[in-house]
Amino acid sequence: MLINFRGYAVRPQLYPELGRKIYKNIFERDNVFLGKDIARQWCVERAIPMEKALIQLTGKNFSFEETYPLLMSEATEIQENCPVEMEGRCALDLIYGLCEFTKATKVIETGVAYGWSSLAALQSLQKRGGTLYSSDMPYVSRNNDQFVGCVIPPKLRQSWKLFRQADREALPKIFKEQDRFQLVHYDSDKSYNGRLWAYDVLWNKLETNGYFISHEIAENAGFMDWVKKNNLIPIIIELEGKYIGVIKKNALSTHKG
Ligand SMILES: C[S@@+](CC[C@H](N)C(=O)[O-])C[C@H]1O[C@@H](n2cnc3c(N)ncnc32)[C@H](O)[C@@H]1O
Repeated sequence: MLINFRGYAVRPQLYPELGRKIYKNIFERDNVFLGKDIARQWCVERAIPMEKALIQLTGKNFSFEETYPLLMSEATEIQENCPVEMEGRCALDLIYGLCEFTKATKVIETGVAYGWSSLAALQSLQKRGGTLYSSDMPYVSRNNDQFVGCVIPPKLRQSWKLFRQADREALPKIFKEQDRFQLVHYDSDKSYNGRLWAYDVLWNKLETNGYFISHEIAENAGFMDWVKKNNLIPIIIELEGKYIGVIKKNALSTHKG
């Protein structure tokens, strides 16, 4: 893992993350893919397609693209003209569907990039005057700061609060403003330890009957180990070769984070 020291040097808000990156580089080099093979197998054995998962979770199917073709084509054009390449655009139906199903007014997500997941959540939240709280640090080597969230149209931005730091700094700041959420969407630091830290913190802020979504859970054993340790029962979704975990927080959930 190469560290872009210059990229960090010009972003003082990321100095704490730089310290952690240096530590990880020295002491936790295998953390990113820890237990990957066994986690992947665990996902493969349990995974169901998105459509089936949505019906299981909400009783109906959602297609964000079919419901909002104009919004999607405008956002796609913005992405195509964006000079920086980023990741994302995954599981919009799930995010939008769960926001609609729970009639969410308070949603938290980690990891924005172009802002596709934010777009899906905001399109639902704005109907109820709700708010999306997002944490995101830029890809320091790509200088993408000004393009973070670029696919989100101006009319949706009044429902959006973006905290431009690493999760460990951003989440405590978000919780000072809002500390209960109906939906959590985790899509930022995918390292094993990064997941375990954030899952506990975010789960603790999730309301009963709320939903917890985590992306790319087959990259290491972080998600698998965490749900096993806490006796949680996830739905695993296979989407375009990647795996997404969803958990409903029920009243009997013993794990408090
Ligand atoms: C996969 S992208 C997010 C995609 C977005 N959720 C979507 O669906 O379109 C991951 C984002 O998380 C950011 N990120 C990575 N590590 C982070 C951390 N520790 N704290 C906050 N953001 C982080 C990356 O820079 C990137 O912008």
